[in-house]
Amino acid sequence: MKVAIASDHGGMNIREEIKKLMDELGIQYEDFGCECETSVDYPDYALPVAEKVARGEFDKGILICGTGIGMSISANKVKGIRCALVHDVYSAKLTRQHNDSNVLAMGERVIGPGLAREIAQTWLTSEFEAGRHANRIGKIADYEEKNL
Ligand code: RB5
Repeated sequence: MKVAIASDHGGMNIREEIKKLMDELGIQYEDFGCECETSVDYPDYALPVAEKVARGEFDKGILICGTGIGMSISANKVKGIRCALVHDVYSAKLTRQHNDSNVLAMGERVIGPGLAREIAQTWLTSEFEAGRHANRIGKIADYEEKNL
């Protein structure tokens, strides 16, 4: 598995924590910033990561900002992206099993590094269950094809 990770200035600490986790799990990743001392704009980080996942260059993406909201709104504008904003372990598991989310967003001003780590580990290691859920995701994909 290859993961693209990025954050804005509001998510840099959790980004580092998740990189440590991926090192421990032996998961390959690339860090797309930010390298910021000052404030940056979250779409400048969310959209390139989402595009890399949508193009198949990476299997999954992880995006962190202050709330995770800006990152998730931005990533979900990219066709083929199912970005889940997650702040609990149960949702992390279910959004992989049911939604086959391919991007995870979290907010560093909402949760601490310990919980973010557990969420990321659960999300990275849970599998899509397909079946009836595949049909539902197919409806989203059909909408994207017909309405863009
Ligand atoms: C930056 O101040 C903040 O707005 C951003 O990190 C994020 O929370 C946006 O959704």
